[in-house]
Amino acid sequence: MKILAIETSCDETSVAILDCDEVINEIKLLANIVSSQIEIHAKWGGVVPNLAAREHLKNITPVLDEALLTSNATLDDIDLIAVTQGPGLIPALLIGTNAAKTLAYTRQIPLMGIHHVEGHLYANVIGHSVDEITFPMLALTVSGGHTQLILMKDHLDYEIIGQTQDDAVGEAFDKVAKMLGLGYPGGPIVSKFANDFESAKEKISDQKLLAKLESIEFPRPMLASGDFNFSFSGLKTSVLYFIEELQKKKGVEKISELEKMAICKAFQTAAIDVLVKKTKKATEELSPETVVLAGGVSANSHLQKTLGDEIAKEFPDIKFLKPSLEFCGDNAAMIGAAAFVRYRKMKKLDLLNQLETTWRDLEADSNLKIEKL
Ligand code: KG4
Ligand code: ZN
Repeated sequence: MKILAIETSCDETSVAILDCDEVINEIKLLANIVSSQIEIHAKWGGVVPNLAAREHLKNITPVLDEALLTSNATLDDIDLIAVTQGPGLIPALLIGTNAAKTLAYTRQIPLMGIHHVEGHLYANVIGHSVDEITFPMLALTVSGGHTQLILMKDHLDYEIIGQTQDDAVGEAFDKVAKMLGLGYPGGPIVSKFANDFESAKEKISDQKLLAKLESIEFPRPMLASGDFNFSFSGLKTSVLYFIEELQKKKGVEKISELEKMAICKAFQTAAIDVLVKKTKKATEELSPETVVLAGGVSANSHLQKTLGDEIAKEFPDIKFLKPSLEFCGDNAAMIGAAAFVRYRKMKKLDLLNQLETTWRDLEADSNLKIEKL
């Protein structure tokens, strides 16, 4: 079956076409067009919802056309349309949901709304068989809007066992980048600065300076909280105080690139230390068969490596999955992958007829909760 998927929850307009094999449960990607608005929002230091909607409106048709062209398909070939229903920015979600509803109605194609995080989770099976996931599965979902540990006993069966009490970890990366004047989005830049510190260190001959830079340390909030919740607001504030203090000491002199690298490194180490330790604790207590990473922050190489290495070392029988780099950030392919899994289960439960009227009932929901099926 062919699925056409649409994602417009934030600052990426994306349309994907997937060819899914219902016998071997394999998901083959035919096209995944992503039009990013990063440059437009960068000058404002973050995503401006109405600007995002304007760009989505401008881009949705060309992106749809390109996806069809790339996959050598027409709308007549499509068996199911899937769209991100939420959470996200309402003006942005509305463009995707309305495009999907219009296509579904005019072409009489079944339509399905998908939770954005459900998409991030199933990004792990694009290009593979859905059956590669074995349960129970523990997912660390980390993005600009979410930081959660989710336990799944089966496909589409979610139990949120822990989540951030304030900022999402991606948000903290973005804010630290802003404090240091590194631009938007912050995650990739902070991560690059942190990684660059390793090679920059080797060139420092002043041992006192090196020791000072290496001694920068930030707190690991809620590490000993005894639960699986997170908090990143205190960590972010410590970075802010540290930068302000440094600025005061330096007077008119600017914070050097080397100091920025050392701050990014210390921040990244602290944030990822908490994510990895809590995921390990949950793995120990809940004994999943699979551990997966999901969401925009899963593109972080330090997180991928640290969590992957720790799981391999301490739980060698547990499978560790992470999405390919191209599917870590927001994209429509992941929405299509989740839709295939939902479609299979709805078919088993004889619920597919519900999808015939979704074009009328589906509403974008900025606070949509992830739901078990
Ligand atoms: O999933 P995503 O693309 O959008 C949301 O659903 O929020 O995640 C975006 C977040 C941003 O906060 C961005 O700074 C962060 O993911 N991010 C990273 C990296 N790449 C993206 N954070 C840390 N390291 C990265 N390499
Ligand atoms: Zn996302």
